[in-house]
Amino acid sequence: MANIVIVGTQWGDEGKGKIVDLLAEYADIVVRFQGGNNAGHTMVVDGEQFISHLVPSGILQGKTCVIGNGMVVDPEVLISEIDYLIEKGIDVSPEKLKISEKAHLIMPYHKRLDAAREEARQKQRIGTTGRGIGPCYEDKASRRGIRFVDLLDAKGFDEKIKSVSEEKNFLLTQLYSSEGISIDEIIAAYAEYRARLAPYVSNISLFIDKGVRAGWQVLFEGAQGTHLDIDHGTYPYVTSSNTVSGNACCGSGIGPKRITGVTGIAKAYTTRVGQGPFPTELFDETGDQIQKKGAEFGATTGRKRRCGWIDTVILRNAVRLNSLTGFAMTKLDVLGGLEELKICTAYTYEGNELLEFPADLNVLSQCEPVYETVPGWSEDISSIRSHEDLPENTKSYLKRIEALTETPIDIISVGPGRDETIVMKNSFAGS
Ligand code: IMP
Repeated sequence: MANIVIVGTQWGDEGKGKIVDLLAEYADIVVRFQGGNNAGHTMVVDGEQFISHLVPSGILQGKTCVIGNGMVVDPEVLISEIDYLIEKGIDVSPEKLKISEKAHLIMPYHKRLDAAREEARQKQRIGTTGRGIGPCYEDKASRRGIRFVDLLDAKGFDEKIKSVSEEKNFLLTQLYSSEGISIDEIIAAYAEYRARLAPYVSNISLFIDKGVRAGWQVLFEGAQGTHLDIDHGTYPYVTSSNTVSGNACCGSGIGPKRITGVTGIAKAYTTRVGQGPFPTELFDETGDQIQKKGAEFGATTGRKRRCGWIDTVILRNAVRLNSLTGFAMTKLDVLGGLEELKICTAYTYEGNELLEFPADLNVLSQCEPVYETVPGWSEDISSIRSHEDLPENTKSYLKRIEALTETPIDIISVGPGRDETIVMKNSFAGS
């Protein structure tokens, strides 16, 4: 039995949704373990586009989906997503969607504080998605957070809100010169969320464990990317959770011995939204071309993504941090038509070669990429379904990335549709 974690290897938006959707076919349950509705997964099934922010994308395959304890959940968004999926004819009953009783709730003041802090940071802003993710994780760490188990206890919930509101109102009105929050409005709105979401809430650690003991296969769906990890990413230009594979355990309540493989999703080039250093970023026509052809706009905020060449320094970092057993390379078709491609193999900093990703952002922002230039391909590869039919230059590009990262590319995506994929190895099916 296989239990596989899927993580992004770059700065998010690697196309994890499509690969999760593809592999979910072989899993019994799909579990999200961190982040919240800062993530946005776009999937195209039979030509129809689906976007999900909170519900794991396995829901489209009719799989049981789990919102793990490591997530932060905006109940208003979750309810509208459930309604959207039901409207599309998808089963989102409590049999199919489970929410951890320990997952934290995003509250209206988290969103307000996220916006106020970004505003106050001015030039130093992180470029957050504005969804209240950071302030919610802050409250979790400072033990002021509100979990689903607290929501279910109506009386206790109302008292908790009253006790935190003093501090939140002080911050909003005194520090950020903004409007305060209305406790009554929050209590009324969350009473409605309680009524709607209560049937979905349970002990998911127990649920997953029972399933694994009974022989189920589990797919753990990461959000964002390795270099947005709060510990290992480009801090402070990161998200507020651990995005690396190890957090699949903490964020869902299972032990590390349950994980049998980790697939890292890497785009055939690199993108980033929000602020922060990005060594291989392109500021020229090629960057624009990739941005346009790849339709590189954030699924959550609609922001234009910054685009650049593939960077094997960060991919090697991701291999080590996540124990990657293989890559799934996405959007390879987007590179078609470029005469030559560049692969970043190392950085130079003050005349010295750096093979590893530096922790100091001052160093990173002065790093110059060292490139190998390889020939591109002009063919449209989107209709190709086997590795051997790919143009020779495409195969060489993939081979070079495998060599530089010492990690196999198991899956290649050549278009947004489920079928536009070449699977060399499926970690679930064991082939
Ligand atoms: P936050 O997660 O909203 O606090 O944003 C922190 C940083 O992570 C910002 O640079 C965001 O653009 C980035 N970020 C958060 N979620 C995603 C995602 O799903 N894809 C790409 N970037 C993300």
